[in-house]
Amino acid sequence: MVGQRFVSLLEHHPWFEVAWLAASERSAGKTYAEACNWRVRDPMPKAARELPVHECRPGKAPQLVFSSLDSKVAGETEKEFARAGHVILSNSSNHRMDADVPLLIPEVNPDHLILVRTQRKERGWKGMIVTNPNCTTIGLVMSLAPLEKTFGLEKVLMTSMQAVSGAGYPGVPTLDILGNVIPHIGGEEEKVERETRKLLGKLVDGQVKMGDFVVSAHCNRVPVEDGHTESISVSLRTRASVEDLIAAWRDFRARPQELQLPSAPKHPIIVREERDRPQPKFDILSENGMAAVVGRVRPCPVLQFKYTALSHNTIRGAAGAALLNAELMKAEGYLD
Ligand SMILES: NC(=O)c1ccc[n+]([C@@H]2O[C@H](COP(=O)([O-])OP(=O)(O)OC[C@H]3O[C@@H](n4cnc5c(N)ncnc54)[C@H](OP(=O)(O)O)[C@@H]3O)[C@@H](O)[C@H]2O)c1
Repeated sequence: MVGQRFVSLLEHHPWFEVAWLAASERSAGKTYAEACNWRVRDPMPKAARELPVHECRPGKAPQLVFSSLDSKVAGETEKEFARAGHVILSNSSNHRMDADVPLLIPEVNPDHLILVRTQRKERGWKGMIVTNPNCTTIGLVMSLAPLEKTFGLEKVLMTSMQAVSGAGYPGVPTLDILGNVIPHIGGEEEKVERETRKLLGKLVDGQVKMGDFVVSAHCNRVPVEDGHTESISVSLRTRASVEDLIAAWRDFRARPQELQLPSAPKHPIIVREERDRPQPKFDILSENGMAAVVGRVRPCPVLQFKYTALSHNTIRGAAGAALLNAELMKAEGYLD
């Protein structure tokens, strides 16, 4: 699912071009058109159709490698590529919490990229690994970042309604998900809780000090094709009104917008004012799937405020996130 998004997003990219593809031994030796069950609405890019799919080994791969490997194999394979000198932009969870690996959202913590210096020095690698967060974490953290910066965060409670495309292809069996809600996604709640605190953590003496707030996540799979919707409640450290929160979201701009990176959304956070938005059906492709869309902000009688957030799980939550990471790295001289 994520690999296809990469191929699609890279089709007309001004800086990067797909030169090499790799997957499991099931696909190696076939052309991409033969190996791939294309699920993206836009047609498969012509240039990719005839590209051969290779075994997943370093050597002939280009400098920059986007990885959306199954997490069962990503851990070792990504290290092997970094050791061999490749720059790995990974979607997998394996290295996200390593102390010397940046877990990056360019709008939120671009300064964490500096961790790659320690990573290369201490591991003796010519290459490096940089990761993007879990697809559920990213919408949550994009909506929290301006609140943390302006008011400080104390407590966060998040309940997700996650799309089936988040489970990869072929994913959740039809009979399990049609007309149903599954209140368990293995490991997901723990990932959201720890990744959020790393992403919103501060760099102190070259290390990330985890954010000083608590997060509790409930994760559910629902019969939606694309787009993770989240019901979020927060307690802040300073006084604020509903209007203050809306202003913090609307005014939020960061490094990718300053640098005008090719995949950067002009408005990273879009605030919907209708009482029943955001909805995956209408809002999922806002800013080409790269924005977090928020709405329904109101007082919360248990914590302080509650709202709804939505983000595209395979674009902003995966391939688009890694692509924006690569664009930031190029603009900041990390790919020279
Ligand atoms: N889907 C999302 O919304 C999302 C969002 C964020 C992060 N992620 C993460 O991104 C990764 C990919 O997710 P996905 O949804 O794209 O899963 P997927 O559709 O199941 O794709 C997994 C890919 O890994 C390849 N693979 C499996 N075993 C391999 C091996 N031994 N050697 C080389 N390649 C191997 C598969 O190759 P074949 O094609 O040959 O089978 C396939 O291309 C996962 O770690 C996932 O947790 C997914």
